[in-house]
Amino acid sequence: MAEVVIVSSPEDAGTLVAAEIVRLVGRDPQAVLGLATGSTPLPVYRALRKQAAGVDLSGVRGFALDEYVGIAPEHPESYASVIRREVVEPLGLDPKLVHVPDGDPERIAVSGEEYERAIEAAGGVDLQILGIGTDGHLGFNEPGSSFASRTRVKTLTAQTRRDNARFFPSLDDVPRHCITQGLGTILRARHLVLLAFGAGKAAAVAGAVEGPLTASLPASAIQLHPHATVVVDEEAASQLRMAEYYRYAWENKPAGQGL
Ligand code: GLP
Repeated sequence: MAEVVIVSSPEDAGTLVAAEIVRLVGRDPQAVLGLATGSTPLPVYRALRKQAAGVDLSGVRGFALDEYVGIAPEHPESYASVIRREVVEPLGLDPKLVHVPDGDPERIAVSGEEYERAIEAAGGVDLQILGIGTDGHLGFNEPGSSFASRTRVKTLTAQTRRDNARFFPSLDDVPRHCITQGLGTILRARHLVLLAFGAGKAAAVAGAVEGPLTASLPASAIQLHPHATVVVDEEAASQLRMAEYYRYAWENKPAGQGL
């Protein structure tokens, strides 16, 4: 099962996960990070900026999870822009080493497979940061996505478009399609770190960690992974039946294991 760590704030989650990334980069300065967008990973990127002061991140490689289809990479809300603004620039990563799926509708038939090959050529993702949608999506793998899926085009659900409308002038401006790493792609990363904060994520988190393994809740795929860590605040943990056990296991974790 996933290791569940219940923290008191998003900032504490950020500090914990950033420390794990610093350890990873200490072992391998060319480590490959799987980068998530959305609000949830921002505390990780902020904490990493503080903790990595003095650590050379210029060799770190990155692969974003997903991208909208049909908005230009220069659009401020394209994930290419978000990754550049929130991750590459503040952390001083080399933009040439950080990749985002190509959402150009003209290239969409081939860009998924190209992205898969690029991840493979990099040796795979070492640590994949994940958020979770209120409908349990990972990346943009909406309910029904195959656990074996690879990077491909998907149609966003009405719920995801409503959730993401806050980033656009109106709901009509939210793209209807995306290109996302598949659940099969995500499961090949060596370590999954899923973060979730707030009561709005509680049902999705409980389903992902303790619910049945089902494509209807794509994040339940993490139950198939040998090294998955779920870092949640109290609100996001509020529907976990085994919360007391997770706290006990974390408090009694053998020293020096990291996440
Ligand atoms: C988007 C992203 C997901 C992210 C989700 C949750 O749909 N494609 O990768 O996990 O939003 O976003 P937030 O973290 O803002 O709640």
